[in-house]
Amino acid sequence: MFLIKFLQKKIIRFLNSEKLLKIFFYYHKFFNNKGLKDIGFDFTSKKDRKFIVQDIINKQKFKKYLEIGCFDNELFDEIKIENKTGVDPVSGGTIRLTSDQFFKNNKEFFDCVFIDGLHTYNQVKKDIKNSLDFLNDNGIILLHDCLPNNFYEQATPRCQWTWNGDVWKAIVECRTDKHLDVYTCYADFGIGVILKRPNKNLLNYHISDFSKLKFDEYHKDPYHLMNIIEYDELKKIL
Ligand SMILES: C[S@@+](CC[C@H](N)C(=O)[O-])C[C@H]1O[C@@H](n2cnc3c(N)ncnc32)[C@H](O)[C@@H]1O
Repeated sequence: MFLIKFLQKKIIRFLNSEKLLKIFFYYHKFFNNKGLKDIGFDFTSKKDRKFIVQDIINKQKFKKYLEIGCFDNELFDEIKIENKTGVDPVSGGTIRLTSDQFFKNNKEFFDCVFIDGLHTYNQVKKDIKNSLDFLNDNGIILLHDCLPNNFYEQATPRCQWTWNGDVWKAIVECRTDKHLDVYTCYADFGIGVILKRPNKNLLNYHISDFSKLKFDEYHKDPYHLMNIIEYDELKKIL
């Protein structure tokens, strides 16, 4: 067990090392990037995730919080709630496991889950499914980093420090599910919002494998694809 955890840490650190990021940057530049301009999202005047998560917790009188991916506890330490659990294989939180390992033996239910672990479509899809299985009625799932501004910010494998990953693809997929009500809040690099209730703005988009969604599609009309709303609007519909 100790050896597995040790190797896990080493692999995560290696995947984020500067040299490897540079190699992937040139790979994306020459083979994948189509030179699309920055979208122009500007989050500087918006509320940040600390404010938004705490505000939702207070308004909904939530009692149990789960954060997947805690890093240096920038968010986790700020959250004031009766009961909080933080899962991260490397640092921060309260449980030193990957989200998959955690959910395998978990029996607890949560009111608010903040998904901010490994930012790849496949992992986020699993994190969403597992979180839905352990979400209390009227609970909420929030996801960080849903609004990349350009191709490189979302390209996988990761190729630069500022990175949202392709979390956005998981949001688009959930938007096509009639049993989930899904939004993206225009704040803090995009905060995805998933509610377990009938979809109020179903996205009509057909593709057999959402991991194959192209950035061009997102770039064309992110507001439509992601159902982007301001935090004030979100508060009204919660
Ligand atoms: C962006 S940081 C989290 C930041 C934090 N949530 C905040 O708001 O300040 C991502 C974290 O996810 C962790 N991580 C990577 N893979 C993971 C996995 N499979 N399960 C859970 N956490 C993971 C990393 O170790 C890292 O600490």
